[in-house]
Amino acid sequence: MKYGLPYKGSKSSIAKWVVDTLPSSETFVDLFAGGCAVTHAAILSGKWKTFIANDISGSTMLFRDAIAGEYENLSTVLTRNEFFASNDLMLKLLYSFGNDSRSYLWGGYYEKAKIPASKMLSAPSVHERRMYYKEFIKVMCEYIGNVMADKQDDRTANMKNVESLQRLERLQELQGLQRLERLEAMMADYRNVNLPANATIYADPPYRNTGEHYGGFDFDAFDNWLMTVDHPVYVSEFDAPKGCVCIAERERFEHMSAYTTGKKTERIFVQERFAEEVKSENLNS
Ligand SMILES: C[S@@+](CC[C@H](N)C(=O)[O-])C[C@H]1O[C@@H](n2cnc3c(N)ncnc32)[C@H](O)[C@@H]1O
Repeated sequence: MKYGLPYKGSKSSIAKWVVDTLPSSETFVDLFAGGCAVTHAAILSGKWKTFIANDISGSTMLFRDAIAGEYENLSTVLTRNEFFASNDLMLKLLYSFGNDSRSYLWGGYYEKAKIPASKMLSAPSVHERRMYYKEFIKVMCEYIGNVMADKQDDRTANMKNVESLQRLERLQELQGLQRLERLEAMMADYRNVNLPANATIYADPPYRNTGEHYGGFDFDAFDNWLMTVDHPVYVSEFDAPKGCVCIAERERFEHMSAYTTGKKTERIFVQERFAEEVKSENLNS
């Protein structure tokens, strides 16, 4: 199952494991929720009554809107120029490479075929769908001619998927997710989220040393905050933040490119001063 929105750095593939690892309480707080994969798995788990999903980017509002059915009729297909002119957060996510909201989804070669392919499946009238079908067939004929000339062409594999439609489908599947009324979507710095007393706090900040800095995330400030905040905070990281110990780990396979995968060890840490408390809570639950 895929959780949350399509999102760069999404925890969809390990969301269920994260949620199974965390202790239950009244409220689940996802401080760096991104595409809300972990919040989504938490909602489905039945371990919490209420949910706070926060992200400085505003992406949690998109998750809330998807649940409310706001994207039910969304079928816009963005061209490269429209992508760069758009300020629509959701369209930027759907039509960006690696869901980074910055670079356009397709290179020029694929764009020529994937735009008419997407439109032929989603255009409102039969007339438009037929027009795009003709355009698609024309591009495919050119393409097949090229592939016959070069059978090793990697592009065969890349032509099979219409990524934007798969992403849209995922968005529409969120509609009606139970317990919407118990979800508070916030757009704030993690330090400004009020943490309720009986809550499980989860943090998935940008990873250190991966180049995913989301505009220069201050890791020292995060480490200092962990040392002073009066709640246990469960942090997803590869390496321990200062003053934290690992409470769970598992390996996961990750796509490094369209054709290669690599192995990474995902870990969950908690501040050392709460480690004993967390251990006994887990034993009792
Ligand atoms: C690794 S991603 C989280 C991915 C998320 N767990 C998911 O499954 O989609 C890190 C997130 O931290 C957010 N972020 C960066 N700085 C932040 C801050 N100061 N406060 C809150 N969120 C922040 C980014 O916008 C980004 O969405």
